[in-house]
Amino acid sequence: WKVLVLHGPNLNLLGQREPGIYGSLTLGEINHYLQKDGVDLGVEVATFQSNGEGELVSAIHSTLGNYHGIVFNAAAYTHTSIALRDALAAVQLPCVEVHLSNIHQRESFRHISHIAPVAIGQICGFGLNSYRLGLRALVDYLNEKADG
Ligand code: DQA
Repeated sequence: WKVLVLHGPNLNLLGQREPGIYGSLTLGEINHYLQKDGVDLGVEVATFQSNGEGELVSAIHSTLGNYHGIVFNAAAYTHTSIALRDALAAVQLPCVEVHLSNIHQRESFRHISHIAPVAIGQICGFGLNSYRLGLRALVDYLNEKADG
């Protein structure tokens, strides 16, 4: 399988950005763990981060014919972006929504996700492990679907 891990706005600042909430790992370190997990799971993992909503929409479009699934931390766009939700609905690829923090435990504006209705599931609150569990869940889902 080929999986795209997509990171939304401000995640390029991980490591220095509100470490009490988001931890001390950099985005590069998170991507490194996911690449390693990809090898262990026997899947190809590509990663992409953008601060721009349109660029993320285009990245989702670019999965068509090239990827089998998406692990997506849409960051703040989770709570605002109908365009990203529509892009996911358009490409019809299985997507696991992930967040480092537990969005349901935080400010009420973070409780709403426009991604959740078009995702196969959501994992939040486990820091790096949200991504790692999300990748594993997506690969299990793809394997199960292929087994029929
Ligand atoms: C986040 C949670 C969002 O509410 C926030 O805007 C982010 C990161 C997380 O990974 O915990 O930027 O998606």
